[in-house]
Amino acid sequence: MKTYNLTTFGCQMNEHDSERMKGMLDSLGYRETPSREQADLILFNTCSIRESADNRFIGHLGEAKRLKTEDPSRIVGVGGCWSQSMKERVFEQFPFVDVAFGPGQIPRLAEFLTSDSLSAQGYFEFESFPGHLPMKRAREFQAWVQVSVGCNCRCAYCIVPSTRGREVSRGAEDVIAEIERVAADGVREVTLLGQNVNSYGRDLPRGSKCTFAELLAMVDAVEGIDRIRYTSPHPKDMREDVVRAHAQLPSLCEHIHLPLQAGSSRILKAMKRTYDRGRYLDRVALIRELVPDCSLTTDIIVGFPGETEAEFAETLEVVEQVRYDSAFTFIFSPRRGTAAADYPDQLPHAVKRERMERLVEAVQRIAAERAQRFVGRTMEVLVEGPSRTDPARVRGRTRHNKAVNFVGSAAPGEFTHVEIESATSQTLAGSARVATPVG
Ligand code: 5AD
Ligand code: SF4
Repeated sequence: MKTYNLTTFGCQMNEHDSERMKGMLDSLGYRETPSREQADLILFNTCSIRESADNRFIGHLGEAKRLKTEDPSRIVGVGGCWSQSMKERVFEQFPFVDVAFGPGQIPRLAEFLTSDSLSAQGYFEFESFPGHLPMKRAREFQAWVQVSVGCNCRCAYCIVPSTRGREVSRGAEDVIAEIERVAADGVREVTLLGQNVNSYGRDLPRGSKCTFAELLAMVDAVEGIDRIRYTSPHPKDMREDVVRAHAQLPSLCEHIHLPLQAGSSRILKAMKRTYDRGRYLDRVALIRELVPDCSLTTDIIVGFPGETEAEFAETLEVVEQVRYDSAFTFIFSPRRGTAAADYPDQLPHAVKRERMERLVEAVQRIAAERAQRFVGRTMEVLVEGPSRTDPARVRGRTRHNKAVNFVGSAAPGEFTHVEIESATSQTLAGSARVATPVG
């Protein structure tokens, strides 16, 4: 039996693509091995969102090169966004790579791994929406479900539209059929995935059109699904029907990730985000009005080309005003082929670093303050396993997407109620509420 080792970098979309790659390899008769040295097939599913992602991956490639030299019958395959953005240059720069493919080619993995001559071959087309593919889920009670591939936005900093192609929605019936299948397998929580989930359905043919809010209602109706999450929405497409769905659909979690990127309207325009600060804050006000306890998280980039100190201060202002439950913060990183990489007024690294420090201070302080609202409350927790820091405790997640470490005994996949005793910016801590025996 042949063995494979797969390393995944990047976002949930990539994690999910890797689940499908593993499913296909299993069905081809390959067995997964945790050790690269013992693998006949060494695979990487790569990311290229920032330079740091490239560097992390290239470090691993060095080891693959050594292993390939030791045993040339090994196959080295590189898939994902880095691969797509490098296209055939992969083989010039890394001649020991046998096969390279982009995210659009994962459904054809089986085909090219079984082809006769596997040397220096690249596969970079964007196929139409992949049909039903085998899948090997990391956790049996949680599943990612792809609702669309690709992205029609042209954010000036972002490499994704070039690595994942134009947006294509998957038919609602197909999405629901998959969710019914995973629910029957014991999945309790689904995360709907798309680069811009709330533009979902616009490209579907007439007669089978479906909005994202309608899709959410259909998922909510699936028996056995207790929690629905999705990522990521784009503020420009965040409509009232989706916000309302958070208040109305019992399974839809009280958490919205609404990427801000920058607080200055001029920078947002330079980023080609197509909303301004006012419109973003309107969306936030709508969320606060309709779903008052909703947790709100975001992505922010500092040091975009030309960002002045005053414009950065506007980002800090929005952070203070919105009061996020948490935020992913990034230093702008010029990416090959993107518009912003060629903008003339790139900022010195020291300036970006210093802004990042101030931003992180504000984000963490506010997140810690916001988390205090959970102290004293009893929260529903979906158990994930033992705590990472203290094996005597159990770890799970609330509907608000807060990690909780608690004293108690519960198995992964179970729902339990936890009384929250303390909170930091990152995690909550508490004790499982002991159920009173009936009778
Ligand atoms: N530099 C820094 N951050 C970036 N992101 C996307 N492209 C870049 C870049 N070139 C961030 C955005 C996005 C998140 C996934 O990564 O904030 O929402
Ligand atoms: Fe995901 Fe973007 Fe990285 Fe591709 S480049 S893996 S879409 S984060």
